[in-house]
Amino acid sequence: MNANGGGEAVHPPLPLFLAPMAGVTNTVFRRICKEMGADVMTSEFVSAEGILHRNPRTAGYVEFSEIERPLGIQLFGGDPDRLAEAARAVIEWVRPDFLDLNFGCPVNKVVSKNGGSSLLRDCPLLGRVASAVVQAAGPVPVSAKIRIGWDRNSINATQTARVLEDSGVFRITVHGRTKEQGYSGEADWDVIGSVVQAVRIPVIGNGDIQNAADAIRRQGEAGVAGLMIGRAAMAGPWVFDEIRAAREGRPFRAPDAEARWQLIRRHCAGEIAWRGDESSAMKAMRSRLMAYTRGMPGGPRLRERLARVASLAELEDIASAHLAGQGVLPSLSATMPAAIFSASLFR
Ligand SMILES: Cc1cc2nc3c(=O)[nH]c(=O)nc-3n(C[C@H](O)[C@H](O)[C@H](O)COP(=O)(O)O)c2cc1C
Repeated sequence: MNANGGGEAVHPPLPLFLAPMAGVTNTVFRRICKEMGADVMTSEFVSAEGILHRNPRTAGYVEFSEIERPLGIQLFGGDPDRLAEAARAVIEWVRPDFLDLNFGCPVNKVVSKNGGSSLLRDCPLLGRVASAVVQAAGPVPVSAKIRIGWDRNSINATQTARVLEDSGVFRITVHGRTKEQGYSGEADWDVIGSVVQAVRIPVIGNGDIQNAADAIRRQGEAGVAGLMIGRAAMAGPWVFDEIRAAREGRPFRAPDAEARWQLIRRHCAGEIAWRGDESSAMKAMRSRLMAYTRGMPGGPRLRERLARVASLAELEDIASAHLAGQGVLPSLSATMPAAIFSASLFR
């Protein structure tokens, strides 16, 4: 039978990676994704300098809990010595399972300091950075995440990947876009497939996986060793379970409106417990709520209210009104499996 109807598993269970996303994939959200079936997590990108100065914001970026393992801390920077020092420091500090090097960030503030995707234009420096970090990390493995090139006239992912392999990197994730593309256009999975052919280390494919059908098609076409999912998980973290269900041949049904609101409420409660401050947590959650409500009926009016939400009680009122508008009698707190989001787990 097919993906939604049950039957035998026909697709190999490749590991599913949650993409690192700055401002999104903190410990609270990662735990949700883990619960929903993500296998491997990475922190959002963290600057080498932030680690070396141990600034308070960085402490939040590198925080994780044991249940998130295997977990990697993603580093960015352009100076091999500083990155090597930061690698040693962060290993000592939080004991991650692996380090990941960011060679894909397109943001000007990062690129202008020789970090992120700027290194795609300087393979010798990229190799020196990777070698320095691999040496410094000792037994802790180092992976890297790249884009396919700087722009469409300089697609060099296979060359970059070979340099990384020679530097001792144990796994490479390829986001199938150029730096110039940012997040527009489509990810080029043919280039991802050519990187798979070019190196012996595992290659994880990333870009535009929205659902189980995309995942199965991409893993078959590109021959990757794993799949990484970002924005689709931001809007619906159950995408991991959907993919697993399809692979295992078991039925999957996306959460209904009430279950979505329960998840949103749990996420907000987790964020409040983690930050220890309701007001700043709800403020930080606003952009996340926009992603969660994409595709929900009554979207524009709903998002207008969520853009100003300031407390959990207010969120519950909005949820109740929204559900009532669809003829659902909500039971948000009654059915909340609160244990995993208890405050004690977050502090
Ligand atoms: C809001 C946002 C923040 C991101 N931050 C990071 C980051 O910190 N490190 C990184 O390697 N990639 C980052 N990315 C890129 C994603 O990891 C991923 O490569 C990209 O979104 C493509 O995958 P997708 O189509 O599944 O979203 C970010 C993407 C978004 C949308």
